[in-house]
Amino acid sequence: MAPTELDAALLPGCLALSAEAGWNQTAEDWSVFFGRGTVFGVVEDGRPVATGAVLPYDGGFGWISMVLVTPARRGRRLGTRILEIGLEELARLGRVPVLDATPAGERVYRPLGFRPQFGLTRWQGPSGGGVPAGVRAMSMHDVAAAVAADALAFGAERALLLGGFLGRAPEHAFVLENGVGFVLARPGRVALQIGPLVAEREEDAWLLLEAAVGRATGPVFLDLADRWESLAAWLQERGFVKQRSFLRMAHGRDTPFGDPSRLFVAAGPEFG
Ligand SMILES: CC(C)(COP(=O)(O)OP(=O)(O)OC[C@H]1O[C@@H](n2cnc3c(N)ncnc32)[C@H](O)[C@@H]1OP(=O)(O)O)[C@@H](O)C(=O)NCCC(=O)NCCS
Repeated sequence: MAPTELDAALLPGCLALSAEAGWNQTAEDWSVFFGRGTVFGVVEDGRPVATGAVLPYDGGFGWISMVLVTPARRGRRLGTRILEIGLEELARLGRVPVLDATPAGERVYRPLGFRPQFGLTRWQGPSGGGVPAGVRAMSMHDVAAAVAADALAFGAERALLLGGFLGRAPEHAFVLENGVGFVLARPGRVALQIGPLVAEREEDAWLLLEAAVGRATGPVFLDLADRWESLAAWLQERGFVKQRSFLRMAHGRDTPFGDPSRLFVAAGPEFG
C-alpha cells in the first residue's frame, strides 16, 4: 500500500475522508490542492483511506497539509510514508516544508526532522454583533495591498489563494479605513473560517476581528497565534472556546518565515 499521487477525480473521496475526521474543509479547499499542488494518498476499493497535500509557495517554502489516515488504517506508518513523499516532492521543488501540526500529527513530524516555530489555537464560537467603525468592506482595489501585507506577514505571496477566498465570500472581507490590515473569511463544511487576519498593530487586529465575527452568521472558527493573549481573552469574553491547538513547524528550521508580529489569524492549517 505505497502512497501515490491522486487524481482530481478522487476529490469527493478525499472530502469524505476529511469530513469523517470532523474537519472543516470543503470541495473548494480540496480543489486548491489538486489544482495548484499535489495530493498523495492510498486508495482502497476506489476510496482514499490516507491522504496528504503539498502546496508550493513562492517564498522558498511549501505547505504540507491534509495528512489524514482513516481510523481503521492508523498505526501502520501510512501517515509517515505520506509525509516522506511530501518531503521528497518539496525537496525536488527546492522548498522548505512547513505545516501546522495537530498534537497527533506532531508525533509523526518530530521524528522526521520538523521543528516548532510557534503555537496557534483554534477558537470556536458564536457570531454576530455588527461591524465597528474604523473598518470597511474590502473592494477589488484593496486586493493588491492585502496581498502585499499578507506576503510580509506570512512570507510568501498568495494572490490566487486570497483572491479565491474573496471570491467565495466577499461580504466577509474587511480592511482598515486608516492603516494596513485586512481580514478574509470563507465558508467551511462545519463553520465559517475566519482568516487570514493581518495587521501592523494589535488594536487594528482587534477591530478587524470584531468586524469579521460581527458580520458572520452561524458558528465561526479561527486560528489565532498564541502570542495574542488579549485577543484570546476578548474571544473568551464573547463566548468562544478553545477547540484544538496547532504547532507551526518547519523541516530543519526554527525561524519562522515572514513576520509573525503581523500575523494574527492564520488562513487555517490547510493553507498556513
Ligand atoms: C496523525 C495521523 C495522520 C498519523 O497517521 P498514522 O499512519 O497512524 O501514523 P504512523 O503509523 O505513521 O505513526 C508514526 C509514529 O507516530 C506515532 N503515533 C501516531 N499517532 C499517534 C498517537 N495518536 N499517539 C501516539 N503515537 C502516535 C506512531 O506510534 C509512530 O511511532 P513509531 O514510529 O515509534 O511507531 C493519524 O493519526 C490521523 O489521521 N489522525 C487524525 C488527523 C490528524 O490529526 N492529522 C495530522 C494533521 S497535522
